Amino acid sequence: MMKHSLTALLVVSLISCSSSDGLTPFPDTFEWGTGTSAWQIEGGNTTSDWTQWEDLCVLDKLDGVRSAGETIADCHKNDDGPDAWNLYGDDFAMANGMGHTAVRLGIEWAKIEPTRGNFDQNAIDHYREVLQRARDEGLEPMVTLQHFTLPTWVHDVLEPEQSLRGWPGAPGSAIGEAAIIDAFELYAQKVAEELGDLVDIWVTINEPMSTLFGAYVAAMFPPGENLKLEKTVHATYNVAYAHAKAYRAIHAADQTDASGNGEVATVSIAKHWRAFTPDYPDKPGAVESAVRFDHLFNRILVNAITRGEIDLNVDQDVEDEGEGTRDELKNTLDWMGVNFYGRFMVSDSIVHMCDSSPCNEGDGLMVPLFVQENTDPERKYNDLLWELYPEGFIDVLTDAWSYGLPIRITENGLADEQDLLRPSFMVSHIEELQKAFNQGMDIRGYYHWSLIDNLEWAEGYTPRFGMVHIDYDSPERTRTPRESAQAYSDIIEAGGVSDEIVTSWGRLY
Ligand code: FCB
Repeated sequence: MMKHSLTALLVVSLISCSSSDGLTPFPDTFEWGTGTSAWQIEGGNTTSDWTQWEDLCVLDKLDGVRSAGETIADCHKNDDGPDAWNLYGDDFAMANGMGHTAVRLGIEWAKIEPTRGNFDQNAIDHYREVLQRARDEGLEPMVTLQHFTLPTWVHDVLEPEQSLRGWPGAPGSAIGEAAIIDAFELYAQKVAEELGDLVDIWVTINEPMSTLFGAYVAAMFPPGENLKLEKTVHATYNVAYAHAKAYRAIHAADQTDASGNGEVATVSIAKHWRAFTPDYPDKPGAVESAVRFDHLFNRILVNAITRGEIDLNVDQDVEDEGEGTRDELKNTLDWMGVNFYGRFMVSDSIVHMCDSSPCNEGDGLMVPLFVQENTDPERKYNDLLWELYPEGFIDVLTDAWSYGLPIRITENGLADEQDLLRPSFMVSHIEELQKAFNQGMDIRGYYHWSLIDNLEWAEGYTPRFGMVHIDYDSPERTRTPRESAQAYSDIIEAGGVSDEIVTSWGRLY
């Protein structure tokens, strides 16, 4: 099951060759980097909900097909990966040699605070060394505080009542009152105090909607619940509160301009921003479904942390009971982090759903049911069969830009073991980004996902997202750059996509 088919589980029946001339290159200050997260590359993670998820895995394929108990494909574990906990210096040196100027990396809450209130100084010191090394290699670090994983004391999959119960909080708790909110604020404050002299660019939380849909709608992420849409929306607003408090804590604690560019701390989230396209453009119901899904997946969280808006029933107004605007959430984004992977097709069935049917009067949400991947044979797909859709990038950027904040592309990439499509994927996406920049959007950086192959969550190690191949069987975890690493270096050197780049590396379509 594909992570990016998360919403497909809602489904009842599951289902240009122009010249680059005239495009101004990106400026010298543009951040050219790659992205990674801690659990996906480090190893040694033993105290998080995702480690429990690993341990719950039962390898019992039927005729080669993954079973429901196979929480992670082939029951792969974080300890068997690229070992970046030890080899991070090699990776940074490699990125430097390839001309990169920035790197997005994750630090692991479960390692820094393995039990509540007890911070592990060794782990903090380790991350200091990592960040110093990045700087020594000329890479501006962007730090993500939370990327899918939670410490077990925050979210215990086996004994939930022993923990803070993750993003939804204790049953019956109001939005903004889950215990995780204050816990996350304290963690953010501690990290900003300890590491702020080395970091200016902060991401509080990675892809909250993917985390929550995976956990409570699609049963693919811990704790593996299904179709709990009200819980998902409730948890979304807890994320908004946690982010807003962490935002203030980071600004209070990090007063050092680490890179000397005049900017002390700049804070965002990494938002998975997906295009939703009606399966038939002339079908009014499908158009409405696409608008509704766009609102639910792309906007409600962003509206909360920019405008303070709470839309509990996801009907695109904030006039209903318990809704309105909350000042404490407003203006807590300094820039917009955009993760872009493509689109979903949406069909025209909008239904009333609640977490436990039958819905009581007033409960539940009106949501679209039919969401699917595009299966048009004319289109190109990655190894996980996600459609590659560079044309949609500009629309997503236009939406993100409508909030009036500078943009960084915090993720964009594909699983492509043979590296057949990655070079042209880079060309086509970066060209669209450059068009957006040329139209006047304030775009500060592009972080390709990913530098090295890594553990792709519920999909295990099989999908290969790296521009650098990892040999998982070799004791040294040998790193070998793929051709696309050269394509990226060429693009960086040219400051974007030029005619020469297109001639050398081609476009996707
Ligand atoms: C994103 C995740 C990232 C990685 C890529 C492929 O949704 O944030 O960790 O898994 O997808």
